[in-house]
Amino acid sequence: MSKEHQGFEPIMDRLRKSLEDTPRSWLVTGVAGFIGSNLLETLLQWNQRVIGLDNFSTGRPSNLENVKQCVTSEQWKRFRFLEGDICHLPTCRQAVDSQVDFVLHQAALGSVPRSIHDPIASNLNNVNGFLNMLVASRDANTKSFVYAASSSTYGDHPGLPKVEDVIGKPLSPYAVTKYVNELYAEVFATTYGFRSIGLRYFNVFGPRQDPNGPYAAVIPKWMEQIQSGQVVQINGDGQTSRDFCYVENAVQANLLAATGSKETKGQVYNVAVGQQTSLNELFDMLKHLLGKPEIEPLYGDFRKGDVRHSKASIDKANRLLDYRPGVDCSEGLKRTVHYYLRNFNG
Ligand SMILES: NC(=O)c1ccc[n+]([C@@H]2O[C@H](COP(=O)([O-])OP(=O)(O)OC[C@H]3O[C@@H](n4cnc5c(N)ncnc54)[C@H](O)[C@@H]3O)[C@@H](O)[C@H]2O)c1
Repeated sequence: MSKEHQGFEPIMDRLRKSLEDTPRSWLVTGVAGFIGSNLLETLLQWNQRVIGLDNFSTGRPSNLENVKQCVTSEQWKRFRFLEGDICHLPTCRQAVDSQVDFVLHQAALGSVPRSIHDPIASNLNNVNGFLNMLVASRDANTKSFVYAASSSTYGDHPGLPKVEDVIGKPLSPYAVTKYVNELYAEVFATTYGFRSIGLRYFNVFGPRQDPNGPYAAVIPKWMEQIQSGQVVQINGDGQTSRDFCYVENAVQANLLAATGSKETKGQVYNVAVGQQTSLNELFDMLKHLLGKPEIEPLYGDFRKGDVRHSKASIDKANRLLDYRPGVDCSEGLKRTVHYYLRNFNG
């Protein structure tokens, strides 16, 4: 691995020590979802106090149960769950009470195809909900507001690797909502002096990502299909590429962003590994890891709203946040398949 990737463990050790020495209060929205529950797990394991907000629209109670199994009962007692909707401002205010130091805002309706099918729902949750959280956090004077932005903001810009300040036109309603988040964040910085941090995630994957439903992400969906003997369909020719990012890297980025210096705030950062993997390569790795090297995929049409190639420059997060994504795509896939096989019920 290159210099940009080295030092994952020392960074995590340093963060852990400083947070364990001075435990803080965190609000994680979307806590019952994939990334939110991974944030919760690390924070509780590091003896932090966590309030979690979720309306279970795409998240699951079983994700919270699963985190409970990964922490001690003492640690679990430091977690308070609030079932509620970020589209309701009083709920956001209640969640960001005066006790909260840091907000990690993950709640949103993900998926490009979902937003094409129902743009109103995506806008409601991702734009109105986001604005509510921003207002509530500003009024509560939280020390940091870190939010889940998205690589979809690069839209139709063909340049590779993707650099934070060069974006194209959005290709889907989802991409619009995530870009609007960034615009609001910027305006809140200039208008109210409330400086937040946007993390543009690139195809995050790992344990507890939902394999089911029409809007499932590619990795859990393919694992489920391969394992249960279904045919895997690849949209397009399989040369479409992504920068797949194991969830522990994203957890590190959130913790660094929340606890970083004032100078690191008021910015957006790519959160990825900086490696490009095609869908054909991904399929190949997964079928071998799942012990089915003989299976072949079916090729279908390209999907509307999808960008053709994606790969991040992680230079900015590396330099300013000290971000070190130590888990690359193939190692992340091994860990994810291992988790998946232990939890597969099919
Ligand atoms: N997973 C990725 O690759 C990826 C890439 C780019 C951006 N993101 C963003 O990261 C965040 C987390 O994504 P994820 O993959 O964990 O998705 P997820 O669907 O697993 O988690 C989202 C969580 O938010 C909750 N939620 C949605 N609307 C809500 C509302 N109105 N009120 C309260 N809770 C609500 C859901 O129930 C769910 O638990 C999202 O903002 C998503 O847009 C994810």
